[in-house]
Amino acid sequence: MEKFYVTTAIDYVNASPHIGHAYEKIAADILARYYRLKGRDVFFLTGVDEHGSKVERAAQQAGVTPKVFCDQMSGKFEQAWKALGLSYDYFIRTTEDRHTLVVQGIFKKMLEKGDVYKGTYAGLYCEGCEDFLRERDLDGDGNCPNHKRPPRETKEENYFFRLSSYKHRLKEWISNGDGVVMPDGRRKEVLNQLDDDELGDFSVSRSRSSLSWGIPVPGDPDQVIYVWVDALTNYLTGVGYLTDKSMLARYWPCDLHLVGKDITKFHAIYWPAMLMSADVALPKRVFGHGFITVEGQKISKSIGNVIDPNQLVERYGADAVRFFLFAATSFDQDGDFSKKEFLTKVNSELANNLGNLLNRTLTLVERNCGGIVPDCQPENNLREEANEVHVVYCKLMESFEFAKAIEAVFALVDQANKYINDERPWALFKEGKKKEGEQVLYTVLEILRRTALKLYPITPGLSAGIWNQLGFKSLIEDVSQNEKGFWELIPAGQAINNVGPIFKRIEEEV
Ligand code: MSP
Repeated sequence: MEKFYVTTAIDYVNASPHIGHAYEKIAADILARYYRLKGRDVFFLTGVDEHGSKVERAAQQAGVTPKVFCDQMSGKFEQAWKALGLSYDYFIRTTEDRHTLVVQGIFKKMLEKGDVYKGTYAGLYCEGCEDFLRERDLDGDGNCPNHKRPPRETKEENYFFRLSSYKHRLKEWISNGDGVVMPDGRRKEVLNQLDDDELGDFSVSRSRSSLSWGIPVPGDPDQVIYVWVDALTNYLTGVGYLTDKSMLARYWPCDLHLVGKDITKFHAIYWPAMLMSADVALPKRVFGHGFITVEGQKISKSIGNVIDPNQLVERYGADAVRFFLFAATSFDQDGDFSKKEFLTKVNSELANNLGNLLNRTLTLVERNCGGIVPDCQPENNLREEANEVHVVYCKLMESFEFAKAIEAVFALVDQANKYINDERPWALFKEGKKKEGEQVLYTVLEILRRTALKLYPITPGLSAGIWNQLGFKSLIEDVSQNEKGFWELIPAGQAINNVGPIFKRIEEEV
């Protein structure tokens, strides 16, 4: 069975999760659910990044030990992801014992290779980025452009990683591979970074006097492993590197690292170089997605526009949130969350277009077919159209064009709405043309079945509801789209269920 191993970036636990973090995790969930439905052996890993100065400082401010702080905060992330219906297979925490073992193991391998050496680091460190900056990275006021704060001047003895030895191989990997860094804009950016002579060896440890919350360098307890080396290694820990050989063989190399555009460098340069050094196979793809803004502005505590995903889910349900975020944005570009757009899109697509089609069709089946799926064949044109949409949809989902995939599904829903309006099955039944009326309803039921399957990765709860209303006894999760699941038709004779609106219009003023 073909496998699919997908990861997300692991979030720093210095602050609570916001919809920007949620966006990436939902994207991974969409792909995990899509490929599971296609019959692949999927492993979906997400989690939290708990070490480093930023988290250490947040714990201090909260007046608790870093461990207690991390326990509280990681619980918040897990809880938010559960509420959003994320189907991850494992939630990793970098404070787990087995992770320490793996990080130290990778560090030792890089040391043994001769790629890690001791030197003196003198320069600028931004705690917000947990990264070393150069003068020319700063804005006009001498601040980090992302965090609007001046970086700290640092001078200390550190271990360094010989990135310079790997630049050539990295360039080859990115240039020759089939979409190893996506989207194309990010690929070009990374290639430019590799051409930059100033991108040199990077520090892979900090002195314990400047950072104590982290994993010790093996054999040198005065040094703590750099938080990015620690964090990136989670992708190996999660599938059993050094701890579970069969699991590692089953899932590594990773099929897809989903990360934000701000951290593509770490995933497309530092991480593969570390893997090359440790003689571990490289991931197949890194995708750097765009950022979510709120009402047109960057998400920021100081602006006060941080949206808690829990609150959104409590108020509108996970399906509406998931649907909007991916129907309204291009995954490779920045996208905006606006309350007005949210209400408009969700009401018009889910409540009106889809909800009404489902509701009126089921009501007609109840009234005219005794609540039983009639024994017919679907109308040919619409059936062919649906087959074409299937091919287009799969292609779009597999190239991360979620909004376009959703659009293709809704174009078919629109056609089905038009078809039922034009054919007027209620009139056909009245005129005694039972067979004709049944065929129209059967055709639309079949389109609804396919719609439920196609929307399942995006709106799993809603799709499960539709599935149930259409009378299926098995779980939608158990259908494999490629084989019988997709191409088979809705079985005649099954009894529809619980007729009533599947998605209620949100009546709320903006
Ligand atoms: N801990 C590191 C990642 C280590 S991965 C080995 C980190 N954490 S983070 O909490 O700052 O960000 C986590 C992820 O959320 C990143 O991929 C980041 O790009 C993403 N996002 C943070 N804000 C975002 C938006 N406003 N919109 C979309 N994604 C955003 O970086």
